[in-house]
Amino acid sequence: MTFLEQGERLAHNCAEAQAALATDSGVRQFLSTQARQEAAHALIFQGAIAWLAPKHLGNSPYLPAMEEYQALLQDALIREDLVETFLAEQVILEGLGEAVLTRIEQGLMKRAAPFGRLRRVLLQQEEAHRGIGCRQLERAIARGKADVSSLQRRAQPYLALTDAIILTLSDLFDTIHEDASAWAADVRTFLPKWLVTDELPGISGQTSVMRIESKPIAES
Ligand SMILES: [Fe+2]
Ligand SMILES: [Fe+2]
Repeated sequence: MTFLEQGERLAHNCAEAQAALATDSGVRQFLSTQARQEAAHALIFQGAIAWLAPKHLGNSPYLPAMEEYQALLQDALIREDLVETFLAEQVILEGLGEAVLTRIEQGLMKRAAPFGRLRRVLLQQEEAHRGIGCRQLERAIARGKADVSSLQRRAQPYLALTDAIILTLSDLFDTIHEDASAWAADVRTFLPKWLVTDELPGISGQTSVMRIESKPIAES
């Protein structure tokens, strides 16, 4: 939970900085809303820690990989490289968050835990954050501002760090009888296929072709 709270704070700071860099007003608006939602998520996890383990409120587990992740992301923000920040925060880090939350959710549902609606809203918001990140990358590829192989290459240090974060937490996973390597593999399933395989990005591109040939059928 403390790890998730740290992640939410990182996501909040990043979305706020991205909103200041974005030139598209719709994207800027989305990022400001995301920043507010991430701040609320951090409070939810703080509340959960206070409820489950009040003694640990304010304790931060030492996660060097998380700090390194933050430093890499900060560097991309300083370079004003919005595409890399979407790759690192909305796509990869949110992918990790969603993988962890989905696993936790399965356990909580089995135990009929409270706050089901709140948990569903939180997951839906995280899904929307990851969605805009994927669309921003696909749009950058379609406009020639990025290419698949360079994004795959730039994703590598971030993915190595998400693996390291899960490995650091693996002692904890053992105590709750969970398999850390299965969680690490989960992160890959939440990433766009073109980022981890040779499959070409097609969703946004296909949609824009359909828009020209017929009436709009989907949000691009
Ligand atoms: Fe969040
Ligand atoms: Fe998020």
